[in-house]
Amino acid sequence: MSAEPLEIHLEQQDLDRGLREDVRVGLAATPKWLPPKWFYDARGSELFEEITRLPEYYPTRAERAVLAAHADDVAAMTGAKTLIELGSGSSEKTRLLLDAFTRHGDLGTFVPLDVSVSALRSSTEQIAAAYPGLRVRGIVGDFTRHLDRLPTGGRRLVAFLGGTIGNLLPAERAEFLTAMRAALETGDWLLVGTDLVKDPGVIVPAYDDAAGVTAEFNRNVLRVINRELGADFDVDAFRHVAVWDPRREWIEMRLRAEHPTGVRVLDTDVVFAAGEELRTEVSAKFRPEGVAAELTASGFDRRAFWTDPDGLFGVSLARAD
Ligand code: SAH
Ligand code: TRP
Repeated sequence: MSAEPLEIHLEQQDLDRGLREDVRVGLAATPKWLPPKWFYDARGSELFEEITRLPEYYPTRAERAVLAAHADDVAAMTGAKTLIELGSGSSEKTRLLLDAFTRHGDLGTFVPLDVSVSALRSSTEQIAAAYPGLRVRGIVGDFTRHLDRLPTGGRRLVAFLGGTIGNLLPAERAEFLTAMRAALETGDWLLVGTDLVKDPGVIVPAYDDAAGVTAEFNRNVLRVINRELGADFDVDAFRHVAVWDPRREWIEMRLRAEHPTGVRVLDTDVVFAAGEELRTEVSAKFRPEGVAAELTASGFDRRAFWTDPDGLFGVSLARAD
């Protein structure tokens, strides 16, 4: 079967409006910040795929190891008819789940949801070609806004992989999990991947690689703003910075102005002092018991928790209670 046409819950005009609003608020704030979803234009999605193959970026390999070992358990425990994937990107690791559901169970529909149209186009075509008989319905949407529009009917499993839940701030995360639970029926399932707290000497290089791919990815958000809003960021004036925050146990990505620089955007002049930083992303690292507590607090019951053999990355399978 070929993939169905993408279902668009985010039109270009919604994206433009959202970007304008975020840029207006974020660049006027102290410190300046931007939300992470704007990284992922076509180039950003490609750069992220490149990040997943870097020697320093362990999360993708570790999560893949967990899924390779336990996808069959997920299929058997959930008996899902519909697999929904949030922030699906290339859905490359998700194939391990689709393979397991092909071996047992009768999954009928796969619903990847992402803000990136380009990533969804290619992933839905590839998945539909590789899994004949599977209905593939891609949704262009925002998982912080559109959870009430997920397809209903039949036992559902929602997968949220890649540690992307860690890119939400704690309050946003609580809000996300509550909205997620409200969107599900009792007996539906959530599979969530979380990167685990470990030696910062391992974490920091994953977000500041030697080849500079992460730096390019981070700076890409400035290119998106230049293109979409006609801004004039001098992209080369900004250096990529990744800082481990030991208290909050997250890594913070920033763009630091190497020398005084300014940008004209949305009819406003915004100045950056030398050394001034723009915060672009946090990536929280979790403790196994902390994830369970957050799931419980939002109406889920964690039924399984698996890690890779090195204990780098955790995957939780939780039932909506
Ligand atoms: N799940 C993949 C990709 C992770 S990268 C993996 O594990 O490798 C994060 C993905 O989430 C990107 O594809 C990005 O486009 C998407 N994304 C980021 N913010 C989003 C949002 N608010 N709503 C929907 N998708 C989002
Ligand atoms: N979900 C990914 C993570 O937190 C996203 C990511 C990886 C990322 N590398 C990045 C986001 C660099 C911003 C900058 O690991």
